[in-house]
Amino acid sequence: MTGLPDSVTIVEVGPRDGLQNEKQVVPIEIKAGLIDRLADAGVRVIEVGSFVSPKWVPQMADSAELMARITRRAGVRYPVLTPNLKGFEAAKAAGAEEVAIFGAASETFSQKNINCSIAESLERFAPVCEAARSAGIRVRGYVSCVLGCPYEGAIAPGAVADVAARLAAMGCFEISLGDTIGVGTPGKAREMLRAVAAAVPVDRLAVHFHDTYGQALANIYACLEEGVAVVDSAIAGLGGCPYAKGASGNVATEDVVYMLDGLGIGTGIDIHELLAASRFISQALGRTPASKVAQALIARAA
Ligand code: HMG
Ligand code: MG
Repeated sequence: MTGLPDSVTIVEVGPRDGLQNEKQVVPIEIKAGLIDRLADAGVRVIEVGSFVSPKWVPQMADSAELMARITRRAGVRYPVLTPNLKGFEAAKAAGAEEVAIFGAASETFSQKNINCSIAESLERFAPVCEAARSAGIRVRGYVSCVLGCPYEGAIAPGAVADVAARLAAMGCFEISLGDTIGVGTPGKAREMLRAVAAAVPVDRLAVHFHDTYGQALANIYACLEEGVAVVDSAIAGLGGCPYAKGASGNVATEDVVYMLDGLGIGTGIDIHELLAASRFISQALGRTPASKVAQALIARAA
């Protein structure tokens, strides 16, 4: 245990991880409105979309147009997902300055999600990293299924550490560890994190918890105690994963920021302005935010 960090970087994944999972394609002006409101609230990293096959994920097919539609603010990073060189070239043409490659610690999930084995995925990612390096574009790496797989069940921490180390060696500046189906609990999260941190320095690790079993905040706290200072979350708790049936959304950004505010850990995000973004997307989707904090603040204001 290293003690809690003084500040945490929130990586907002709602526009991508959240909206990729909506049954209907969300209109581009709503997506752009959400992203701009998140930047207004002080969010400094906002994942805009994915350059993946539109046949696989039609919800993200407008990502190039969306990159042109948003108001890019100085000091805000707008990464996008790129599974292969084709996606990378499209992202670069759209003006992306940061991309993310996404692998898995589970063979079956890798096949279902990106249609190749873990080894093949690493072969596809290597040229993306090379092309990104020559173009001066930063690459983030994801590892999915770090605490369990919808097809294979439990995943060994060593398998996570292995993929994370390969992505780091390829040049990823940061590795985000994804509990894709939200099955983790704090003890298991800590054990997994320690195994990965033995291979990749903890200051290059981020955590990405889905909240299916309501454990995400507790898991994040356990990881903060281990020295993690980058946390992925989604406004209003949007999302899931199209290749992980039953997985609920990411931990809500409002809930993470409220917890960090209470701990005196800086994020640069204004919770009230964040609430405006949460209300905006929840109204557009016609539902109540999944965030308990958003629900409480809305009830208090009523
Ligand atoms: P494939 O079928 O194996 O690829 O798909 P392919 O190279 O054989 O190409 C087949 C077709 O796709 C061709 O088109 C290609 O041009 C096209 P066709 O000739 O049939 O018309 N294609 C592309 N089109 C646009 N952009 C591209 C691209 N690549 C090929 N980049 C592929 C492989 C990876 C593309 C496919 O499986 C795919 O798009 N999968 C979607 C994966 C995805 O978006 N999953 C959700 C995000 S991951 C996630 O949510 C987890 C995370 O949040 C962390 C966590 O929670 O754990 C990150
Ligand atoms: Mg995810």
